[in-house]
Amino acid sequence: MDRAEALRALEEERERGVAALAGAADLESLEAARTAVMGRKSRFGELQRSLGSMAEEDRRSVGAVANEVREVLQAAAAERLSALRAVAEEALLAADHLDLSLPGHRPRRGSLHPITLAEYEIVDIFTSLGFRVAEGPEIEDDWHNFQALNIPPDHPARTMKDSLYVDVPGHPELLLRTETSAVQIRTMQSQPPPVYVVAPGRVYRRETPDPTHSPVFHQVEGLAVDEGITFGDMKGVLETVAKALFGEERRVRLGPAYFPFVEPGAELGVSCFACDGAGCRICGDGWIELLGCGMVHPTVLENCGYDSERYTGFAFGIGSDRVALLRYGIPDIRMLFDGDVRFLSQWGATP
Ligand code: FA5
Repeated sequence: MDRAEALRALEEERERGVAALAGAADLESLEAARTAVMGRKSRFGELQRSLGSMAEEDRRSVGAVANEVREVLQAAAAERLSALRAVAEEALLAADHLDLSLPGHRPRRGSLHPITLAEYEIVDIFTSLGFRVAEGPEIEDDWHNFQALNIPPDHPARTMKDSLYVDVPGHPELLLRTETSAVQIRTMQSQPPPVYVVAPGRVYRRETPDPTHSPVFHQVEGLAVDEGITFGDMKGVLETVAKALFGEERRVRLGPAYFPFVEPGAELGVSCFACDGAGCRICGDGWIELLGCGMVHPTVLENCGYDSERYTGFAFGIGSDRVALLRYGIPDIRMLFDGDVRFLSQWGATP
């Protein structure tokens, strides 16, 4: 091949190559075009190889043109590559398009459980009377749950409530607390008198469920210890609280009851919301027992290091679930534990 022929051929390859590269429709055909235009077996490749057999002078001038053509072809390939990449990216973005104006999926809204609402209401009344909130563990030991509360190991009161023990090897003394009264002990152990606390929490007893009894339920314990506290103070506080919770029209009764950790002990009942005291399936005799109470037993004060000659006090344990039944007219305590959202939606949860 002489010089003129080679230069013409290179010119043709420049034109043909640029057109082929620029016309590639996608990344795959660009790669095919690049091989066809600049690959070893391409005409351009052949021309480059034929430089070797040319005379020195021709080789230099034709070689310079060949380099120029290669640069032009490489530039055309690079240009097409970036154009095709931009197109591919645009297509990806279009496929991935997110329409922010579409309405979203609203998560279901929860609400406070009626037991929590009742608990908050009870606690609010007492904090407004100057009580503060105390806490204790749900897994208790025998001493706090029984012995310190004047219930020694052989005391018949232990069989009054069927306790649920926790199976922790080496700790036979651990049980699920049967009442929140253990918080009285923990509070008195942690501070000197005077004490004015309420302690809301969950308690456990091995009991058969019925409309007003559940094996897991809630209490708000109360404890007031100071100089000169009388039974009259307790009666006044508890009647005030009962009326604040249920209204002036509901009747309240205070009757004698036995709890080993108080002396004297009492129980406060409220006229039933369903039958107004006549007697029905829910209450039995027309009254719903709301709380146990009494004057703190001197032995309990002494067990916690308090001087029972100087200090007296009262304590009480309100059934929060019973308050929820009365406040909201719920006919069966078991409905509070079913977790049925259709029922709970009455307090604002979305079903
Ligand atoms: C007690 O648990 C005593 N600790 C209360 C107390 C505290 C007395 C301080 C004196 C001083 P009782 O077992 O009666 O007492 O329970 C108190 C209240 O919890 C009851 O009046 C009732 O409202 C509620 N209650 C009792 N058992 C259940 C149950 N199984 N399900 C739902 N509520 C219950």
